[in-house]
Amino acid sequence: MNIVLIGYMASGKTSIGKKLANKLGYNFIDLDDLIEENENLSVTDVFKSKGEIYFRKQEHVYLNKVLNSKDNVVLSVGGGTPCYSNNMNVIVNDDNVKSIYLKASITTLTEKLMRKKAKRPLIAHIETEDAMAEFIGKHLFERVQFYNQAEIQVSIDGKTKDDIVEDIILQLF
Ligand code: S3P
Repeated sequence: MNIVLIGYMASGKTSIGKKLANKLGYNFIDLDDLIEENENLSVTDVFKSKGEIYFRKQEHVYLNKVLNSKDNVVLSVGGGTPCYSNNMNVIVNDDNVKSIYLKASITTLTEKLMRKKAKRPLIAHIETEDAMAEFIGKHLFERVQFYNQAEIQVSIDGKTKDDIVEDIILQLF
C-alpha cells in the first residue's frame, strides 16, 4: 500500500508524513523535494525560471512515476497537486493508495504561513495577516472540492504531530 498525504500549504504534510512513515516502517517521499532534486532548482526557482505550468506538469509526471513504481511509501504532495492535471483522480482511483487529507482551519493556516511563506512562491509576496487570511480563504474554497475526495480526513487544528499520526493510524487500520 502507498499513502498519499494531501492538504493546503503548511498543513504539515511533510513533517507528519515523515513521522507516519517512520512509525509504519514505510519509505517517505516528498513530491516537491523530488522535483527539486530532478530539476536541480528550488520550487521557487522552477516557478521563476520555467513557470507554474511547467511545475504543474512535473508534479503530474512525478506523481505518476512514484505511484507506478513504488510500494510501502508515504508520499506527501504539494498543496496544489490534487487540483491539477486529473491528479486527484489518479490518486483516488489507484487501488493501492490510501489518500489522507490533513484538514486545517484558515486561522491555523494563516498563523503558520505568515511564518513559512518565504519558500512558497504563491504566497511569498503577501505582507499582512489579514491579506494572508483572505487569500487562503478564497484559495481553499477553490481547492477543497479536490481535497474532500480523499478517503480519510484528519483535522490538525490544535493537535500535536504525534496526535495527528495516531489519528491517521486509527483511521487507516
Ligand atoms: C503549492 C504548494 C507547495 C509547492 C508549490 C505550490 C501550492 O507545496 O508545491 O509552492 O500550489 O499549494 P506545500 O504544500 O508543501 O507548501
